[in-house]
Amino acid sequence: MTTLTQIERPAGLDHHLEQVRSLIFRTLEETSLREVLHDSPSLASIGGKMLRSRLAHRVGSVTGVDTNLLVHGSAAVEMIHTASLLHDDVIDGGVMRRGLPTFWVEKGKAGAILLGDLLLFKAVDLICRVADGRYTHELVKLTGEVCEAESEQELILQGEESQLEICQSIARRKTGALFAFASLLGGDGDAHRREVLKESGYLLGTAYQLADDILDTRPEDDASGKTLGTDAARDIVSAARLEHVDLRAHLDDLLVQSVKILNGDQQAVKGIQTYIAQDLQPALSALLG
Ligand code: FPP
Ligand code: MG
Repeated sequence: MTTLTQIERPAGLDHHLEQVRSLIFRTLEETSLREVLHDSPSLASIGGKMLRSRLAHRVGSVTGVDTNLLVHGSAAVEMIHTASLLHDDVIDGGVMRRGLPTFWVEKGKAGAILLGDLLLFKAVDLICRVADGRYTHELVKLTGEVCEAESEQELILQGEESQLEICQSIARRKTGALFAFASLLGGDGDAHRREVLKESGYLLGTAYQLADDILDTRPEDDASGKTLGTDAARDIVSAARLEHVDLRAHLDDLLVQSVKILNGDQQAVKGIQTYIAQDLQPALSALLG
C-alpha cells in the first residue's frame, strides 16, 4: 500500500520534479506491474516535460503551499496525463512519442488501455492521501472534463468544420483542465485565489493545446519525437484548420488573460509569469516552430 511520505520543502524546480518522478515510480513499483515498469523504455520518460508539475511548483512555491500537497498533486496529475496519452496513442494510432515507440506498439493495445486505467486510479488514490482528501473531488471532476472533451471530439465533432469557438472549447477541457488542477493547488487555503488560479491554468492549457494542434500539421520528419498528421487523417476538429484566424496573436492573448485575471495578486502573478517565461513559452516555441 502506498504510504504518505513526508516530503521536505523543495529547494527549487528540479528538486520538485525529481520528487514527483520518484513518487510516481514508487507508486507503480508497489503494484504487480513493477516488471513492466522496468522493462518499458516508453514508461521511463513518464511525464515528459512535466509542464503541469512545473506549473504547480512555479505558483505553489511562491504562494507557500505545503510541499506534500504540491508533490502528490503533481504526481497525480502527471499520472492522469500519462494515462490519457496511453489511451490517445491507441485512438490516434500514434506509433512514436517522446522519440520512442509508443507503449501500445511495445506491449499491445489491450496493455496500453489497461495500464492507463491503473494509472488513473493510482492517481486518485494518491490525491486522496493528501490534504485530508479535499482535492479529490476537484481532480475527479477535471479528469471527467478531459474524457468528455476527447469523447466529444471523437463521437460528435468528427468530420465537422473547425471553428475557433469549438477548437477552443475542446482544448480548454481536453488539456486545460489538468493545467487548471496544477495551478489551483497554488491557491490552497484561499478560495478566491484558488478559483482565479484555476481559470489561469485553463487559459494556459488551452494555449498549449491549440499550439499542439498546429504541430500536428508539421512534416513527419520533424524533431517533435511523436507521430504527426493524425488529426487530419482522422478528420477531427483542429486549430490547424482554422481559416482567417491569427492563431499566434490569439495565443498571446490567452497568456495575457491568464495573468490579467489574477487581478494584481502579486504572488500568484509572479508564479504564473515565471511559468510562462521559463516553461510555457519555450514549449510553445517548440510546438510552433
Ligand atoms: C492528446 O491530444 C490527448 C489529450 C490531451 C487527452 C486524451 C484523452 C483521452 C484519450 C480520454 C481518456 C482520458 C483519460 C484521463 C484516461 P492530441 O492527440 O491532440 O495530442 P498528441 O499530438 O500529443 O497526441
Ligand atoms: Mg494524439
